[in-house]
Amino acid sequence: MDKKITATLIPGDGIGPEVTAATVRALDALGSPFEWDTQYAGMAGVDHCGDPVPQQTLDSIRRNGLALKGPLTTPVGAGFRSANVRMREEFKLYANVRPVRTIIPGRYEDIDIVLIRENIEGLYVAHEHFIPVGDDPRAVAVSTGINTRDGARRIARFAFDYALKHGRKKVTIVHKANVLKALTGIFLEAGREVAKEYEGRVAVDDRIVDACAMQLVLNPWQFDMLLCTNLFGDILSDELAGLVGGLGLAPGANIGKDAAIFEAVHGSAPDIAGKGLANPISLLLAAGLMLEHVGKPELADRLRNGIQQTLMEDQVKTRDLGGTASTDEFTAALVKRLA
Ligand code: NAI
Ligand code: MG
Repeated sequence: MDKKITATLIPGDGIGPEVTAATVRALDALGSPFEWDTQYAGMAGVDHCGDPVPQQTLDSIRRNGLALKGPLTTPVGAGFRSANVRMREEFKLYANVRPVRTIIPGRYEDIDIVLIRENIEGLYVAHEHFIPVGDDPRAVAVSTGINTRDGARRIARFAFDYALKHGRKKVTIVHKANVLKALTGIFLEAGREVAKEYEGRVAVDDRIVDACAMQLVLNPWQFDMLLCTNLFGDILSDELAGLVGGLGLAPGANIGKDAAIFEAVHGSAPDIAGKGLANPISLLLAAGLMLEHVGKPELADRLRNGIQQTLMEDQVKTRDLGGTASTDEFTAALVKRLA
C-alpha cells in the first residue's frame, strides 16, 4: 500500500459539501492516496471560525501544500472580500490550469484543449479609482493593469513545461498587443522568448484575443493549449466550458511553487443547494487533476473513464446534463464503475 498523502479538504458553501462528499466517496472507491484534513472557508468559515479565510485553514494548506476545495460563496457588493482571491494571493497560485475535453458528445466532438491562465497579475490586481470632475465624484474611472516580465515568463515556462509533461504539441499565446502594446505586449514578448527554449519540442503561435474567441467557435480543433493573461483567460475558459457542455464539466487547478488548490470552475449554486441535484463531475475532474499533480496519472485516467462509462454506457446523468439522477445516485453508479 502506498504512503498516504495528507491534503486539505474544504467542503465550501452551497452545493460544496454535496459535491465534495461525492468526490471523496469516488476517490475512496478508486483507492486514492489522499488522507483528508477537513477545514472551513467562505460562509462556512464565518460560521465555524468567524472568518471567511480562517488562520487554521491557511495553516493547513501551508502544511500540506495541497487542497481540494468546494466553491465558496462571496457576498456581492458589501461584505468580505473574495476568499478565493485571498487564497490565490496568499499562496501565490500564479497558474490557473483549465482543461476541457468532450465527455458527452453534443455540439462539438473531440474537444481537447488546455487553457493556462495567469492567475495573479493583469487587470485583476484591480488597482482602481475614480477621478471627480465638477460635481460628479465618479466622473472618470481608472484601472491599472500590471504584467511583469518575471510573471509573464513564469507562466509561459509553466505552460511549456506542462506541454512537455503532458505530450502537448502547441501553445497559442493569446494577447491584444496591437492595442494594449505595453500590458499584453510584454506578455507576448516574454512568451515568445520562453518558447525558444522549447523549440523543436513544443510549437508556438499567437492570436489576438477577439480573433481567438471567434476561432474557438468556428474551428476549436486547431487549438491545443492556450496561454492567456488573467482577464482573457477568465473569459476564454468559460467559452471553452461552453464547448463541452457547461459548468458541470469544467475543472480547474490553481498552482503555485509551494501549494496547489484544486476546484470546480462553478460556484456554490445556491439555487440548488441542499436538494441533492448538483452534478459532482467538475469537482471529480478537479480531483483527477490533483491525482496527476501528485504523480498518479493512472488513477486519474481510471477516474475519467469511470465518469465516461457512467454517463455514456450506464446513462446515469444529473439534471443539468438532461438526466434525472440525484448527486447520490450518480455517485453510487460511478462508485460501482470504479470498484
Ligand atoms: P454558480 O456557478 O454557482 O451557478 C450558476 C448556475 O449553474 C446556477 O443555475 C447553478 O445551479 C448551476 N450550477 C453550477 N454548478 C452546478 C453543478 N455542479 N451542478 C448543477 N448545476 C450547477 O454561479 P453563481 O450563481 O454566479 O454564483 C454563486 C456563488 O458562487 C456566488 O457567491 C459566487 O461568488 C460563488 N462562486 C464561487 C466560485 C469558487 O469558489 N471558485 C466560482 C464562481 C462563483
Ligand atoms: Mg470566471
